[in-house]
Amino acid sequence: MPATVVVGTQWGDEGKGKLTDLLAKDVRLVVRYQGGHNAGHTIVVDGETFALQLVPSGVLYSHTTPVIGNGVVVDPAVLLEECEMLERRGIDTSRLVVSGNAHLIMPYHYEIDRMTERFLGHNKLGTTKRGIGPAYADKASRIGLRAQDLLDPKIFREKLDVVLREKNALLSRVYNRLPLDAGEIADLYLGELAPRVAPMLGDAVALVHEALDTGEQVMLEGAQATFLDLDHGTYPFVTSSNPTAGGACVGTGIGPRDISRVVGIVKAYTTRVGSGPFPTELHGEMADILVERGHEYGTNTGRRRRTGWLDLVMIRQAVRLNSISELAITKLDVLSAFDRIKVCMAYEADGRRFDHMPYHQSVLHKVEPIYEELPGWRSDLTDATSADELPAAARAYLELVSSEAGVPVSFASVGPGRQQYVSFAA
Ligand code: IMP
Repeated sequence: MPATVVVGTQWGDEGKGKLTDLLAKDVRLVVRYQGGHNAGHTIVVDGETFALQLVPSGVLYSHTTPVIGNGVVVDPAVLLEECEMLERRGIDTSRLVVSGNAHLIMPYHYEIDRMTERFLGHNKLGTTKRGIGPAYADKASRIGLRAQDLLDPKIFREKLDVVLREKNALLSRVYNRLPLDAGEIADLYLGELAPRVAPMLGDAVALVHEALDTGEQVMLEGAQATFLDLDHGTYPFVTSSNPTAGGACVGTGIGPRDISRVVGIVKAYTTRVGSGPFPTELHGEMADILVERGHEYGTNTGRRRRTGWLDLVMIRQAVRLNSISELAITKLDVLSAFDRIKVCMAYEADGRRFDHMPYHQSVLHKVEPIYEELPGWRSDLTDATSADELPAAARAYLELVSSEAGVPVSFASVGPGRQQYVSFAA
């Protein structure tokens, strides 16, 4: 059976974790295909909140095998901590499989992430400082260490010694930092972490194909989102991997014909963390309402998110870039706070109208949103379980999104709980 991809359509934090968890009900494998512990997925089950960074959301179901694909960058210490946290809370993590080809985040990646940001000054990207960009840079430079290297101390040490010579020269001569000690890093990674990570390592490609060949359902879970994509996002204010659906193929080892369904997750308004253009951004009281009602603070970093109205130019572009087949709208309940709700239908810059994203960054920086204003519904949606329990104005909002995006809306989430959603699926 072909795979389903779950992808964020904005700048992340759309609620992919909840939707993946919801869709994982019938799924055998849930595979994370890119990113690292820069991600934060929050899932509420029976009133208990689980904040996941690396382990795929499917871990919360006992019938699902969670897989960390080759496209992910893994800090093994963070992975083990997260597994321990889940075990303490009664979640079995013994089924987790980590691709041996996933690259490792090393101590020097954190240092370089912090230093690069510092040197960029007011041009900084606002990264999560988790070493993500430097780890992917080493992968592309072919000097990265992979999870499988943890199984071979001699090779691990040889690679580490070579790479650390260059990293230490950079850290000490350019950034004026103390060099790192290869022995200490090897003791930590090989001595402490490798014995505990080793049982998780496996051939994720084989696992995914066995599941597909035997007709099992496979879900590919993206982290971050379309406009943080290294190629298609608002570069340079992006992450260093490809969250778009194409990245799901590369990051798990399947081809496009193995995917039949692409679910785009759309927050009912827009948020962004870190720097970069944001045409519909709000400030002042409206922004505060969205932040407070939507709890718009980073799951891991605690940073306050920037907030704004829904931008349909972005959603149209996301549908194109990911070949999205359906949308799931999240946090619809948060918009109950407003009498009138604005939606960005197009942009305007230098007297020209843009229905699609302008490709040039300088244009994107100066566009003005063209809004349509819709009536709000001002009523509590959090107990709605079917479309007819939603107020007409909320249904009209969803219909507008669907007709502008050109694909159906199949779910609307109306609260953080696992059961708090309305399904429009046939
Ligand atoms: P990095 O991924 O840590 O390199 O950060 C690059 C950019 O992506 C920054 O603007 C981050 O705030 C943003 N970013 C990374 N991960 C997430 C996420 O999971 N949600 C939202 N923004 C993210």
